[in-house]
Amino acid sequence: MRISVKTFLPLLTGGLFLFCAAARADEGMWLPMFLKQNEARMQELGFKLTAEDVYDVNASSLKDAVVIFGGGCTGEVVSPQGLVFTNHHCGYGYIQEHSSLEHDYLTDGFWAESLRDELPCPGLKVRFLKEMRDVSEVMLAGLERNDDGTPVAENVRRDSIDARSRRLMKEAAQGEEIRVVPFYYGNQYFLFVYEVYEDVRLVGAPPSNIGKFGGDTDNWMFPRHTGDFSVFRIYADTANRPAPYSPENKPYSPKRYFKIDLRGCEEGDFTMVIGYPGRTQEYLSSYGVEQVLNQEDPMRIEARTLRLEVIKAAMNRDAKTRIQYAAKAASIANGWKKWIGEAKGIERLDVVGSKREYEKLFGEWTATPEGAAYASVLPALQEAYEGFGAVQGEAIVFQEYVLAPEAVRFAYSFKALCEAAEKAASGEEGAVEKFAEILRKRQTAAEDFYKNYNPEVDREIFEKMAARQAEKSSAAVPDPSQINLFYTKSVFTQPQKMLALLQDFKPAQRKTILNDPLYRYALSVYNRYITHTVPAVALYRRQIDSLQRVYMRGQMEMQKSSGPETFYPDANFTMRVAYGQVNGFSPSDALVCKPYTTLKGIMEKENPDIYDYVVEERLKELYRNADYGRYANKKGEMPVAFIGTNHTTGGNSGSPVLNAEGNLVGINFDRNWEGTMSDIRYDAQMCRNIMLDIRYCLFIIDKFAGARRLIDELEFVEN
Ligand code: ARG
Ligand code: GLU
Repeated sequence: MRISVKTFLPLLTGGLFLFCAAARADEGMWLPMFLKQNEARMQELGFKLTAEDVYDVNASSLKDAVVIFGGGCTGEVVSPQGLVFTNHHCGYGYIQEHSSLEHDYLTDGFWAESLRDELPCPGLKVRFLKEMRDVSEVMLAGLERNDDGTPVAENVRRDSIDARSRRLMKEAAQGEEIRVVPFYYGNQYFLFVYEVYEDVRLVGAPPSNIGKFGGDTDNWMFPRHTGDFSVFRIYADTANRPAPYSPENKPYSPKRYFKIDLRGCEEGDFTMVIGYPGRTQEYLSSYGVEQVLNQEDPMRIEARTLRLEVIKAAMNRDAKTRIQYAAKAASIANGWKKWIGEAKGIERLDVVGSKREYEKLFGEWTATPEGAAYASVLPALQEAYEGFGAVQGEAIVFQEYVLAPEAVRFAYSFKALCEAAEKAASGEEGAVEKFAEILRKRQTAAEDFYKNYNPEVDREIFEKMAARQAEKSSAAVPDPSQINLFYTKSVFTQPQKMLALLQDFKPAQRKTILNDPLYRYALSVYNRYITHTVPAVALYRRQIDSLQRVYMRGQMEMQKSSGPETFYPDANFTMRVAYGQVNGFSPSDALVCKPYTTLKGIMEKENPDIYDYVVEERLKELYRNADYGRYANKKGEMPVAFIGTNHTTGGNSGSPVLNAEGNLVGINFDRNWEGTMSDIRYDAQMCRNIMLDIRYCLFIIDKFAGARRLIDELEFVEN
């Protein structure tokens, strides 16, 4: 493949490409640093502030109150004492960690009565964005052409980029972290400096029947009534600097915190979401979209449908299994349901067809002198996807079928222990200590694993998946007698035996594991995956990424010559601003959805026999007495959730929802099912983000839980 590139670099270094915000309605996830280009449109929608109020390098701005919460969520600072709001599903793991049979905070909720009662969460970090800058010049200099005019080889380019970003990352000061992130498939690079606080404590969480109300049944759906929030606090050392946990640490005093507006939002009102969207793919070729639509989504959906059938049936049969598998079923179902909605949306909008149309125009443009440099990129992409399909199919079979029975991954996780045992037995220096350390970790891991494991359920999953797997993959599939062996003779599927074995495990006992039938099976499938599938997938991925980089650049150049167009960069877990309006929608023929829900809807959904719809007496009582205090809306209703046209995705969970004045009115937590294709194609008619009304959050804290001390910390702009 030959793609010659003209003078492209100079274009990149003076900021982003030419933008005009008018072209694509209110779609988009915008870099706060370049928000000026959207300002006029935002103000037209009702925004009363300026771009500098959102992001300013020299002065405190709204962005200073937004954090990366943990590994994949967003949170916001809401008080001068470092109080943070995020979603319940983002805090879930930490709430679970502090839960036991005696204190089941997950079920009953948790409210720290004083600062001293706030619970440390080891491993939980929040990150503040200090600054971002364009480092395209440093990152990309000399990486297009060699001195002799030939294109720089892709592997040379990759290695240079790795080395350069490592060098930049090293400049991070104490308590800071630097990330260097590609934009537009590597046509541009930005550097982000974060301040990382690692003493973050759990302050409050509603009971699950509020924080997870509606469970998986309502997940990805509107009308929605989930009180999806939890409360944390950032702690800092006496100099207000990041520090590891210490009892001496003090509540963090933030540069900026959001004020809360209790007047709420109505249909048509301006809203803005600032947060960390994870991944979108708006600029794929039709071949890339076909890959998602015809292979990626259907294969994963089919595998998870099978797995969920087994798990759901087992959960219905038995209360213990229901508890053991609730969280697992939730995470399996979350992706499953999203992909179903996404595939339907891609079909409905005929995204493949419209991309083909666009590609025809692109082809015509590449026949002109201006676009000639890009003439081979689409045919090359088509060819790459043809090869990619087969190897990607193998990868999905491994991820969704082979690893569906949990015992396989679990067995494989003992590889390091066996290796350490080998070394310890051979008397290598320090090996005995290392072995003991790994053993301790395995013991805890085994206890955690078996707490939520039912070998019968796992076996049924194995049998179901194996029966279907053969038709999808060239890899050998275990026959029924082998599977029988895995669940009768293997130590991994016999919790008591395994825990006993680990209790006083000696290096010599590694043979028990090494000869275990399930361990041997796990080792062989993982080996095949690692040595065969992963490199093959990586090869195509790299090829596609390189082509996509060129195609992206071509698309931008073509638009430039045919008039202004808006290209917001795909989401990549960097801070973005999405804006829009509160707006209902019509999910299907004859149905119209209002833009907000109320407590009344919770009472309508209530069903004491269905786990997802249990409502506590205390909440019913507040409803009966309409005891909403200052949190009711103008009509006297208790609002719960609302929707708008803000373009968001996974990672935006927990993001602050701000009104025209930049005050907090909600917490983002989901999207509507009919709009989940927005990761690939946004549709202003159908795509809505789902936000918790801040008044419901405060009503629960204040009226339901009586945690007045938290309310007293907040600052309200009205009443
Ligand atoms: N759909 C939301 C997201 O993608 C919420 C997921 C958690 N809730 C659940 N019922 N599984 O994160
Ligand atoms: N629940 C998602 C999250 O955890 C947000 C929903 C979405 O994908 O927009 O980030």
